[in-house]
Amino acid sequence: MADLASMDKIVALCKRRGFIFASSEIYGGLGSTYDYGHYGVLFKQNVKNEWWRAMLSERDDIVALDSAILQHPRTWEASGHLAGFTDPMVDCRTCGQRFRADHLRDLQCPHKPSKHPGEGPQCDLTEARDFNLMFETTMGPVKDSGATVYLRPETAQGIFVNFKNVLQFSRKKPPFGIAQIGKSFRNEITPGNFVFRTREFEQMEMEFFVPPDEAPQWYEHWKRARMEWYVELGLRTDHLRLREHDADELSHYSSATADVEYLFPIGWSELEGIANRGDFDLTQHADYSGEKLEYFDPQSKERYVPHVIEPAAGADRATLAFLVDAYDEEDVPGEGRTGDTPSGAQGGEQRTVLKLHPRLAPVKVAVLPLVRKDGQPEVAREILAALRGRMQTEYDEGGSIGKRYRRQDEIGTPFCVTVDHQTLEDRSVTVRERDSLAQERVAIDGLGDLLASRLAAPWRSPKLTGAS
Ligand code: GAP
Repeated sequence: MADLASMDKIVALCKRRGFIFASSEIYGGLGSTYDYGHYGVLFKQNVKNEWWRAMLSERDDIVALDSAILQHPRTWEASGHLAGFTDPMVDCRTCGQRFRADHLRDLQCPHKPSKHPGEGPQCDLTEARDFNLMFETTMGPVKDSGATVYLRPETAQGIFVNFKNVLQFSRKKPPFGIAQIGKSFRNEITPGNFVFRTREFEQMEMEFFVPPDEAPQWYEHWKRARMEWYVELGLRTDHLRLREHDADELSHYSSATADVEYLFPIGWSELEGIANRGDFDLTQHADYSGEKLEYFDPQSKERYVPHVIEPAAGADRATLAFLVDAYDEEDVPGEGRTGDTPSGAQGGEQRTVLKLHPRLAPVKVAVLPLVRKDGQPEVAREILAALRGRMQTEYDEGGSIGKRYRRQDEIGTPFCVTVDHQTLEDRSVTVRERDSLAQERVAIDGLGDLLASRLAAPWRSPKLTGAS
């Protein structure tokens, strides 16, 4: 079946339901920066929590770090970013626009969209020159050259420069990892495709320090583990692949890199990179800082510079992939449009639904009184109060029950609990499941345990057909 999730539909849903919208919108927006609203915050936080869970809670060989965005400028000399973190850029003297010289074939001429930049009769492109992607700013009150600092273009370097600190306080020995989630900034020449490529974004990076001879096996381990993470969280396996880089694609620091790629509406694109960075970073920072960045093994009396395996993911890009993967439109039986029963089917209707893994869904349960009278809102609020300490719960009494179900479908809420006239008689409610639309009657006592166990159960995308 063709995928329904075009980027336009995802953008429209995100804006309609307040997940993600253009930043500084009242001033016309600011080139490719985005703000996250209530559901977007909850959703992206769940993605990050799942990453922390995989890195910290499910292992005991990784520790957390939160390093500053502004770092000593020598960091970026040592890392190679100051000299080499560049994209080739051309300017058009006619329209004043700037383009990635290596992406011209994928871009449109702003004057003549049927042509690529440089192909139109009026195009007048400059020679390509290197453009550094780091944002510069000035530290302190005096704007001289010595005060220039950079917004970090990756979280990784904050980990390398803290290697010695962490080694001391964490009492770990290789193999061990340092994990960090945080904002990174890149002055991308051609950002685009919503939050796929932006100038301000969040990364989830982990640097795993290993004895040099163990690097190949840990590289294999992390490729496997990172693929499994996406699969466990419900990304369809037929939309996910691992692609090993060819030798001419490798970054200067890497001896091997593989990308986890997802089939976005724009085609197969990088979701995460897993790289064998060797001893490049620690050696560079040791040279530039004069600090010894190595490990001394007291048992073997061996001293060595650990090698690094790095799984580097983007929180925004992962969030986008989960959104795209979950988006569905389908015809469903009308639900409860008679207004007096939650399941009174009447005719068919279309719904837009996010079939998100329950652990990622921004809201887990919606509590809905069928009518706004007869004591139903009071019981619904009592249920809300009991559930909300345990799971993200929302109360909604506005509009027909069918409309309220549709609203919850659009934000991917896995369960709706409906209070109706029978609830007042026997303290039972209906639990409606998002994907199957199945409804069952259950007692209010034990409702929290029932929902918690269902939310924790393994989950597979209902969009995934066949055995893949
Ligand atoms: N430390 C290695 C590193 O930063 P990268 O491939 O440049 O590697 C890692 O970035 C991940 O960060 C990417 O796979 C992507 O998910 C995310 N990312 C990179 N640039 C991005 C951008 N401009 N907008 C959104 N996400 C980005």
